[in-house]
Amino acid sequence: MKKTMLLLTAVMIGLSSQAALASDIDVEKVFKKKCAMCHKADAKKVGPALKDMNVDAEVLKLTITEGRKMMPAFAKKLSGEEIEALVAYIQSNQPLH
Ligand code: HEC
Repeated sequence: MKKTMLLLTAVMIGLSSQAALASDIDVEKVFKKKCAMCHKADAKKVGPALKDMNVDAEVLKLTITEGRKMMPAFAKKLSGEEIEALVAYIQSNQPLH
């Protein structure tokens, strides 16, 4: 009986930590999947390096949402939360910020 309770508790802890992970956006993973083919943190690729991008959150958000020239729009491909997370991620990679 004691063993069963322990096992149950362990399973519950396991489940709840997994649920927490699922709701947390892994921004590095999103970036790798959707952006890294054109953007690098510190060097120009197809698009500008993160460190050379605009620092204005609104400009960043608009570009990601609606796209610009070669840059595709992500309004339908990413959630609002994912886009916010990407904006913060870009800003955190800017040395002047
Ligand atoms: C197909 C290649 C491609 C992909 C994929 C791509 N970008 Fe871009 N991105 C570009 C290009 C090219 C530009 C420069 C556009 C221009 O000439 O104004 C750009 C510009 C930007 C800018 C504007 C920078 C500034 O200084 O104003 C941001 C922000 C940006 N990209 C973020 C992202 C994010 C975040 C993703 C992933 C969700 C992404 N991009 C995916 C090609 C891409």
